[in-house]
Amino acid sequence: CGIVGYNGVLDAKEILLKGLEKLEYRGYDSAGIAVHNEEGVTVFKEKGRIADLRKAVDGDVEAAVGIGHTRWATHGVPNRLNAHPHTSASGRYTLVHNGVIENYHLLQKAYLKGIQMSSDTDTEVIVQLIDLFAKEGLSTLEAFRKTLSLVHGSYALALLDNEDVETIYVAKNKSPLLVGVGEDFNVIASDAMAMLQVTDQFIELHDKEVVIVRKDKVEITTLNGRVVERAPYTAQLDASDIEKGTYPHYMLKEMDEQPTVIRKIIQAYEQGEDVTVDADILKALAEADRLYIIAAGTSYHAGLIGKQYFEKIAGIPVEVHISSEFGYNMPLLSKKPLFIFISQSGETADSRQVLVKIKELGYKALTVTNVQGSTLSREADYTLLLHAGPEIAVASTKAYVAQVAVLAVAAYAVAKQLGMELDFDLKQELAIVANGIQTIIDSKDEMEQIAEDYLKIARNAFFIGRNMDFCVSLEGALKLKEISYIQAEGFAGGELKHGTIALIEEGTPVFALATQKGVALNIRGNVKEVVARGANACIIAMEGMEEEGDRLVIPSVHELLTPLVSVVPLQLISYYAALHRRCDVDKPRNLAKSVTVE
Ligand code: G6P
Repeated sequence: CGIVGYNGVLDAKEILLKGLEKLEYRGYDSAGIAVHNEEGVTVFKEKGRIADLRKAVDGDVEAAVGIGHTRWATHGVPNRLNAHPHTSASGRYTLVHNGVIENYHLLQKAYLKGIQMSSDTDTEVIVQLIDLFAKEGLSTLEAFRKTLSLVHGSYALALLDNEDVETIYVAKNKSPLLVGVGEDFNVIASDAMAMLQVTDQFIELHDKEVVIVRKDKVEITTLNGRVVERAPYTAQLDASDIEKGTYPHYMLKEMDEQPTVIRKIIQAYEQGEDVTVDADILKALAEADRLYIIAAGTSYHAGLIGKQYFEKIAGIPVEVHISSEFGYNMPLLSKKPLFIFISQSGETADSRQVLVKIKELGYKALTVTNVQGSTLSREADYTLLLHAGPEIAVASTKAYVAQVAVLAVAAYAVAKQLGMELDFDLKQELAIVANGIQTIIDSKDEMEQIAEDYLKIARNAFFIGRNMDFCVSLEGALKLKEISYIQAEGFAGGELKHGTIALIEEGTPVFALATQKGVALNIRGNVKEVVARGANACIIAMEGMEEEGDRLVIPSVHELLTPLVSVVPLQLISYYAALHRRCDVDKPRNLAKSVTVE
C-alpha cells in the first residue's frame, strides 16, 4: 500500500491523486482520498485503480488539506468498503494506513465491544480506538499516542480530525514514510516519488515517531513525546525518470534501459582501470568467513547468481535465503558472518524483519538496493546502490540485471582485495555485456515471434538450464507467471525427469538455456528427453555454442556474466506473451512492487 497527504494552500485533490498515481506500483486493489475544509472531511473511495477513484471524486469539493491511500489488500477483500480512508463511528476521525496491525482482534475485543465496525480491516480498529479515547477526554494527539502505544505491528498512518482543519497527524513504525517540506505547504508520502511534483526536500521518519503536519510547520516527536530535530535532504530523483515517455509500458522502457544501467554501474564503481567498492565494504566482505544473502522474489534470484560470484571469483562460501523463511528457520551461523540484503525497493518487510533480528544479534549487514535512503539501506551498516533509476513496472527487469552486475563488482573487488589472481577484466567484460544486451533489445521482433509461436495458447511452460542457466530459468519462469499468468516453472535441467516431466504433453513449451560450456551437452540431452514426449522446445544458446535448430542465439559474453544477457530474451518473451493475452503488463493482478507487510 502507499499513502500520501497534503497540507497547504492549493486544492489538495489533484496533488493527492497525482501522488497516488505515482504510488500505484505499491498496490492497486482499491484507493481513496479524504479532503478537509471548513465544512468538514469528505471521503471518496473506489475499488480498482486510481483512474477509477479519479472518476468518483467530486470536482466541486475544494480543500487544502487531505490524505490518500492506494491499497494492496491484506485484511479484508479488495472492495469499496475495505478501501481506505476509514472513518470512526462518530465520524470525527478519518485514517489511512499502510502496514498490518497484528493485535487488532485483541484490541477490538478489549476496547471496542459495542462498536459496529463497517469494514473487515485492521485499520478500522485504530481509528475507532482514537475516537474512543478522545471521547474519554483525551486530546487528539493524546488519543493518537495512546492508541499507538497499544498496537503491535507495522504502520504508516495519516489521520484527519474533523474538528481541526489545520492538522494532519502522522505516525510510522516499520512501514516507510517521509515528510516533504515546501514554502507554504508540507506533505507526506510513502515514497518521495509521489510528491516530487511539489517538492524535492524530504525528511526521513524513524520508527515510533509521531508527527504533526501543518501547512507551515512539521513537528516530529518520539512516541514518548521527546522532540526530534531532523533536517531535510534533497531527493536525488529526476522527475523525467519516473515518466514512461512515449513507451506503451514502463516494463518495456525499463528493459530498454538495461544497457545504460550496466554502463552506469561501470561508471559508478569505476576506480582507475578497475571497478571496485568502498574500502569499508571490501574490508567487511574480506573479513567474513561466510556470506548470508537474504532476499525475496526476483532479488532472491539475483542472490543465487551472487552466490556463484562470491564463491567462484572470491572463494567465500555463501548461503542464499528467502527472507520470509529466514526469520524462523535461521541456519547455524558461521563465526564471522556478513549479511547481504538484496532489495530493489529497500523496503520489503520480510527482508527487514531479518535485518532487525540479525542486528539485535550484533551482526553486520550490507544492503544492495536501488533506493538510496530506503529502510534497508538506512538500517544496514553498508550500502551498494544499483544505479538503475526508478523501476516502476511491478515485474523487475533492470533492477535484476543491476543487482547481478553489482554483485559481480563486489565479488571481483573482494577477490582482488584478498590477493587472488583473476584472469579477466570485469570492467571490460561488463562493457561487452552492455553491448550484448543492446543487440537483443534491438531484435525484439524475434522475441515477439517466439512469444507468439510458443505461448499464445499455452497453459503452462517450463524453463530449464544447468549451472548459472538454472538460476536464470527460475527468473524467466517468474517473469512469465507474474505478467502473463501462464503457469511457469524453472528447473535444473537434470531435475525435470525426476517427476515434473510427467506434465509434458504434446506442445508444452520448454525454454532451454545453453550458455554454460561444461554442461551444454547435458542440457541438450534434457531437451531431447522432453521433445521425445511432445514438448515444443525453444533453445536459446550463446554464440559459439549454437547448433542447428536453436531458436535464438544470443551474443557471447564471459561465462560468469551470461545471466545478465540470457535473462533479457526471457523478459521480452514474457512481455510479449502478456501483451498477446491482453494482460496489464505494468500492474499484474494481485501483485505489488513493494511489499511492506510480512
Ligand atoms: C515483490 C515484487 C517482486 C520483487 C519482490 C522483492 O513481490 O512484486 O517483483 O522481486 O517484491 O522486492 P525487493 O524490492 O525487495 O527487491
